[in-house]
Amino acid sequence: MQPYYEDEAVTLYHGDALEILPQLPKADAIVTDPPYGETSLDWDRWPDGWPAAAAMVAPQMWCFGSMRMFLEKRGDLEGWKLAQDIVWEKHNGSSFHDDRFRRVHEFALHFYRGEWGALYREVPRFGEEQRKQNIRRGKTPHLGANGAASVIEGQRIMTSVIFAPSCHGYAVNETQKPEDIVAPLLQYSVPPGGLVVDCFAGSGTTGAVARKFRRRAILIEKREAQCRAIVERLRQGDLLTANDLGNRLAAHETKQER
Ligand SMILES: C[S@@+](CC[C@H](N)C(=O)[O-])C[C@H]1O[C@@H](n2cnc3c(N)ncnc32)[C@H](O)[C@@H]1O
Repeated sequence: MQPYYEDEAVTLYHGDALEILPQLPKADAIVTDPPYGETSLDWDRWPDGWPAAAAMVAPQMWCFGSMRMFLEKRGDLEGWKLAQDIVWEKHNGSSFHDDRFRRVHEFALHFYRGEWGALYREVPRFGEEQRKQNIRRGKTPHLGANGAASVIEGQRIMTSVIFAPSCHGYAVNETQKPEDIVAPLLQYSVPPGGLVVDCFAGSGTTGAVARKFRRRAILIEKREAQCRAIVERLRQGDLLTANDLGNRLAAHETKQER
């Protein structure tokens, strides 16, 4: 299998995810943003069976999508266990209907297979170091008789609603995801030096983030125009340095803290 592009961190294959996924080496995680199949656009077709092909590659997966998409495709996601859901809050949203709330969010769902304890999971943290505290909640109305116990130590963990401005004005993909929303998912599930696969790469956001955060990425993209855009993006390097991105993430996290 001949890569379309390769550097020390990113390998890009031009082709169909269904054909290429079975030929890939094992990775730490899939981080991907599939065609939701909600429009009549040519590229926007959910390839049936891709979650099963992805399962051969990695034990955990972050998948962007709408609630409608996840419910419609739940049969195709069989075998993957749902661990958690992240809400990406955008500053502006899309709305095709004036009889529904204006939609300013997307979901990223975290799925896994096998043993939870065997996965790499490192929640991004922010803020001041906190002293170790043991917290035990007994019977409460929302926990029932079981209660809950936890230990809080060190910096605060990132919350499940993450604000990140969308890519309006600089996007080269129709539904390009901002690096600020992809970065925490990748950091969570891929150790430094580890390997992430994005089988619907679009403009290559996952690859750009992987390189900045010292991870490796394999990307797959079906449209050649998008592959060219990925190569250009990776060759130029982004205007943002990893440091800038880190600072922006910290700013969003400060907003969450308020
Ligand atoms: C939602 S977009 C991904 C956008 C990406 N997250 C970004 O930040 O630019 C989905 C991409 O999957 C690609 N695609 C659609 N079907 C595919 C297939 N069978 N194999 C590989 N790529 C495919 C489309 O061309 C599109 O660029």
